Amino acid sequence: MALCTCGAFLLVQLLYVSGFQPKQNISVLIEIPEDVSPGSEVLRPLEFVNCSTANVAYAGNLQSWSVRITGGDDFGRFQVHNTSLTVTVAAPLDFELYSRYNLSVEVEHTRENQNWFINIVITVRDVSGYPPLYDKRCETPVLSDIGGTEDYTVLTSDGTMDAFLNGEHIVTAVDLIKWHTGDPSVVNNVVVMRDDCSVLLLVGMTTLIGRKAFLAPWLHGFGAGRLEVQCHYKNRKDAGKMTLLDISFDNNLPRWVQESRIKIDESVRYVVAAELNDVWSTSNRIRCGKNVSFSDGPVLAEITAEYNITGCPEGRYGLYCDHDCVCKNGARCHGFNGACKCRPGWRGRACDIPWAEVVIIATPGDSVVKYIGTNLTLTCLAPHIQVANMTWLYEAENKNTDTEMIEKGPVQNSSVKFQPIYESANGRYTCLVKAEDGERFNTTFILSVKECPPNRYGDVCSQVCDCEYGGTCDRWEGCLCPPGRHGDRCEHTCAPDTFGWNCSMKCNCENKALCDPVNGNCICAEGQWGEFCHECAPGIFGWNCSMKCHCLNNASCDAVNGSCICAAGRVWRVLSGRLCTQG
Ligand SMILES: *[C@@H]1O[C@H](CO)[C@@H](O)[C@H](O)[C@H]1NC(C)=O
Ligand SMILES: *[C@@H]1O[C@H](CO)[C@@H](O)[C@H](O)[C@H]1NC(C)=O
Ligand SMILES: *[C@@H]1O[C@H](CO)[C@@H](O)[C@H](O)[C@H]1NC(C)=O
Ligand SMILES: *[C@@H]1O[C@H](CO)[C@@H](O)[C@H](O)[C@H]1NC(C)=O
Ligand SMILES: *[C@@H]1O[C@H](CO)[C@@H](O)[C@H](O)[C@H]1NC(C)=O
Ligand SMILES: *[C@@H]1O[C@H](CO)[C@@H](O)[C@H](O)[C@H]1NC(C)=O
Ligand SMILES: *[C@@H]1O[C@H](CO)[C@@H](O)[C@H](O)[C@H]1NC(C)=O
Ligand SMILES: *[C@@H]1O[C@H](CO)[C@@H](O)[C@H](O)[C@H]1NC(C)=O
Ligand SMILES: *[C@@H]1O[C@H](CO)[C@@H](O)[C@H](O)[C@H]1NC(C)=O
Ligand SMILES: *[C@@H]1O[C@H](CO)[C@@H](O)[C@H](O)[C@H]1NC(C)=O
Ligand SMILES: *[C@@H]1O[C@H](CO)[C@@H](O)[C@H](O)[C@H]1NC(C)=O
Ligand SMILES: *[C@@H]1O[C@H](CO)[C@@H](O)[C@H](O)[C@H]1NC(C)=O
Repeated sequence: MALCTCGAFLLVQLLYVSGFQPKQNISVLIEIPEDVSPGSEVLRPLEFVNCSTANVAYAGNLQSWSVRITGGDDFGRFQVHNTSLTVTVAAPLDFELYSRYNLSVEVEHTRENQNWFINIVITVRDVSGYPPLYDKRCETPVLSDIGGTEDYTVLTSDGTMDAFLNGEHIVTAVDLIKWHTGDPSVVNNVVVMRDDCSVLLLVGMTTLIGRKAFLAPWLHGFGAGRLEVQCHYKNRKDAGKMTLLDISFDNNLPRWVQESRIKIDESVRYVVAAELNDVWSTSNRIRCGKNVSFSDGPVLAEITAEYNITGCPEGRYGLYCDHDCVCKNGARCHGFNGACKCRPGWRGRACDIPWAEVVIIATPGDSVVKYIGTNLTLTCLAPHIQVANMTWLYEAENKNTDTEMIEKGPVQNSSVKFQPIYESANGRYTCLVKAEDGERFNTTFILSVKECPPNRYGDVCSQVCDCEYGGTCDRWEGCLCPPGRHGDRCEHTCAPDTFGWNCSMKCNCENKALCDPVNGNCICAEGQWGEFCHECAPGIFGWNCSMKCHCLNNASCDAVNGSCICAAGRVWRVLSGRLCTQG
């Protein structure tokens, strides 16, 4: 192997080389993409060394050379491979954080005692879609790896998908994410998990066999080589789509397949491409369907499946949990795309770049709703900072109140505790940090807690509501009862003659009629009528005064039961029922 060629054969793009003089300092300018994987070769320093100045007899023996990185690599992103003496990438790069490195490399021919100095200026190129983003909406549980041989999937189905025609179940097939298992006709099974919580799956097959065969007549019949169906979640929200192709008829693959540059095997004839969007909730029931025209009219063809987000074992990610996480320093690894959620003080693709910053963390965490009356601790952390002075600054929500400073001095962290939170503590809490080197940092947490915990009320939320009969718990009033009810827990109905919200209205009924405690409607007795329960007019009686009296000779009748009230001094005889006749 020619070690020193004075030529520049590189696996990466070499932009500029200057100073090719013996013993002189060499400068090399190269560009590498940020998504280069650790272990990749960056440059072979020996190729830049002019052999003719070293004893050629030793030149070919790697053991007589040493290569060292002497500067410009504060975060250990590069290393010299111990046997090949090439400069390689040691840890993930990140364009956003560091887009340029200026490595000082010393090459020494140990026998000849000769040195060369190479400056490798590395420009990191931005790669779109890298590093992967951590989307909390589809954060996945981390399973404790029980070490078994079980096949994990980050999304779990019950293993089947069902097909229906006009709502009638026609077949149960293996779920798409398991199609490749135990089916030799599946040649391609490619998954793309994107940053936006979408899951893309392509299955390429030579034939449609087994239960999958049910699709063949549809595909070759009305589908003419292409079946494309829209998918929806239970709540009608768009869930993506599924496409089945016989690529010998129609090879117009969905756009994401073309963009992902998936190589489809030559033997593949059938392709299923599924695109599942917004996989956020733990349970995702989808229904993919289309109205198709059969000879005897339109038919609704549907497929249903359900995917639950179940997570991968610790340190794994991807649909099949078959990728290794790279997250370091306690960072959480996203089960979909392996993105890392760094702990304070760390940055980069793998959270392995120390980052001087001041952060305030709230315990219990950000995702927990905070209520008046519960405990909260704010902690100011200053990772990777030599703190000279840490100070809390409090500005009350109410601008009239003074600001307050609490100096903590040279501590690495300090906490403000609320045991419990009162509304009066609301405002801006800023942690000011001065580093030993004079640099200043600050960060602010806004405390704005205005609600009582569920079922609590009062100034400091110390009282319990326990409302009954559908009453709701008000922050200040306690139970707000539905119309018709009152009492601390709405346990009482309104007193007679009152009704409505808080029983605050008076009934307007006449003749001692009661009113409905909810809406105040008068409840008339027999012999009363109308909105306010007037007495029946002479000659009518009964419920609603809807019956006619049949008393003769000017006798009046009882408004309630219609019995005739006979005049004094006359003899009357009661005939059938309520009739009064002269005796
Ligand atoms: C290599 O070194 C020799 C001897 O010093 C010199 O003549 C020659 O020009 C150098 N070659 C290059 C490419 O610098
Ligand atoms: C080459 O670089 C080394 C170390 O960076 C430095 O000590 C030396 O003075 C430089 N030589 C020239 C000729 O620039
Ligand atoms: C080179 O590194 C490998 C592992 O990275 C190690 O096993 C080996 O002992 C090292 N060789 C030398 C010569 O240091
Ligand atoms: C790289 O660093 C060296 C000294 O270590 C300096 O002389 C040189 O100008 C730097 N190059 C660039 C491009 O910054
Ligand atoms: C998904 O989760 C729901 C609710 O926990 C459960 O009822 C359902 O059986 C699960 N489905 C699958 C396919 O795991
Ligand atoms: C199928 O047609 C019916 C009736 O026209 C319509 O209500 C339904 O939304 C259609 N379904 C699909 C998936 O296109
Ligand atoms: C600490 O910082 C605060 C706010 O910046 C300042 O008021 C205070 O004087 C500082 N104390 C010391 C000892 O530097
Ligand atoms: C705060 O600092 C103390 C020591 O100064 C340390 O023991 C503790 O772990 C730190 N707390 C956090 C949350 O980092
Ligand atoms: C809140 O803090 C106080 C004082 O330390 C403690 O007595 C109480 O149990 C805490 N409450 C909760 C809900 O943790
Ligand atoms: C906090 O830092 C910002 C700049 O990052 C600065 O503008 C602001 O004045 C600082 N706030 C305090 C209270 O020092
Ligand atoms: C309900 O009525 C009581 C007594 O009449 C009164 O003190 C209270 O303020 C009322 N509540 C509301 C919400 O109107
Ligand atoms: C009384 O009259 C009202 C309205 O005319 C009617 O809705 C109601 O059913 C009647 N009540 C009885 C007991 O007949």
